[in-house]
Amino acid sequence: MSRIVVTGGAGFLGSSLCERLLAEGHRVVAIDDFSRGTSANLSEAIKNGNFAFIEGNACDPTPYLAALERLEAVDTVYHMAAINGTKLFHEQARRVIDININATLMSLQMAESWGARYVLASSPEALGITEEMPLSHTSFSRFPPASLHQRFAYGASKYLDEVMVHHAVGQGMDARIVRPFNGYGPRLIGTDEGQVVAMMFSAVLNSESINVHGDGQQTRSFTHVDDLVDGFVRAGTLDGSHSTGEPLAGLTFNLANDEEINMLDLAQHVNEIVGSLAVELTLGGGYHGDSRRRTGDTSPAVTHLGWSPSVTIHEGLRRVWKALHSQP
Ligand SMILES: NC(=O)c1ccc[n+]([C@@H]2O[C@H](COP(=O)([O-])OP(=O)(O)OC[C@H]3O[C@@H](n4cnc5c(N)ncnc54)[C@H](O)[C@@H]3O)[C@@H](O)[C@H]2O)c1
Repeated sequence: MSRIVVTGGAGFLGSSLCERLLAEGHRVVAIDDFSRGTSANLSEAIKNGNFAFIEGNACDPTPYLAALERLEAVDTVYHMAAINGTKLFHEQARRVIDININATLMSLQMAESWGARYVLASSPEALGITEEMPLSHTSFSRFPPASLHQRFAYGASKYLDEVMVHHAVGQGMDARIVRPFNGYGPRLIGTDEGQVVAMMFSAVLNSESINVHGDGQQTRSFTHVDDLVDGFVRAGTLDGSHSTGEPLAGLTFNLANDEEINMLDLAQHVNEIVGSLAVELTLGGGYHGDSRRRTGDTSPAVTHLGWSPSVTIHEGLRRVWKALHSQP
């Protein structure tokens, strides 16, 4: 049984991570300011006596001190809190930079002072516009001039988050980096501040056409939330490499599905799954700086975490649709 703090614990990934850690018998304190997460996401976790929630800003020390008071000592910190969502990268660039950098500085400092292990939720966006595919842990980051657009408020902040982690590892901390690739599943936000899979299903539910950005040929490796959570849990609970036993500190794990799919095919999959509710597809729009392809080299996760994705895109989309129907 470990004592664990999850920042951003009321969010899409954080809330499922809390549930899974609780199911494994750990004690968990989640910190969230509800800027994007919801108490509904915690409705299962809250039933467990090993769970506590603290509402607060992950950039401030106060919620961490409250978490320490609950747990008495902390073994692991999963840092999931961040401002996410492509629309916000452009429209709220300074807020994105502020929260994404200061919450990482604070959570890392707290974990270091507690002697806790640290797991950073980074992103493939930390690599910017690099065209080298698949993205690996050795790929170089490449960013366009900031005057063109501010999309990389997010990617550049994740890059600096990774710099902070490597610096802390150099100072003796056990910190690991996880990069989820286009997570999807129930609880995703379907508004225009959300993510594409949820937006497509919400278009169907509202009998509106599915808008596919650009020419629809851009690809992503959509990874189901259950696979992502499994990867995060392995990254935070394994003491050493699954296969070699070597330390995991300073390693970066890409968690990506091996099916690469373009947006037009994704929309067609959604229409197949919703059957008679299918809606028309329209093309156009999108954001500056959107990448044409995104796939990840998962070999470090396979070798050191014993991780591999298990949910196909078709099965994962089917599960999202089923969950939408079982919501009250
Ligand atoms: N979902 C993905 O596909 C994906 C991909 C790459 C990286 N990530 C990263 O994984 C992490 C979790 O992503 P998610 O999809 O669950 O996002 P999310 O927006 O659902 O969750 C983030 C949570 O952090 C909370 N939060 C934001 N600012 C906060 C603050 N100052 N103090 C306390 N809480 C705060 C939000 O309320 C939210 O509940 C993020 O760091 C994100 O950047 C996610």
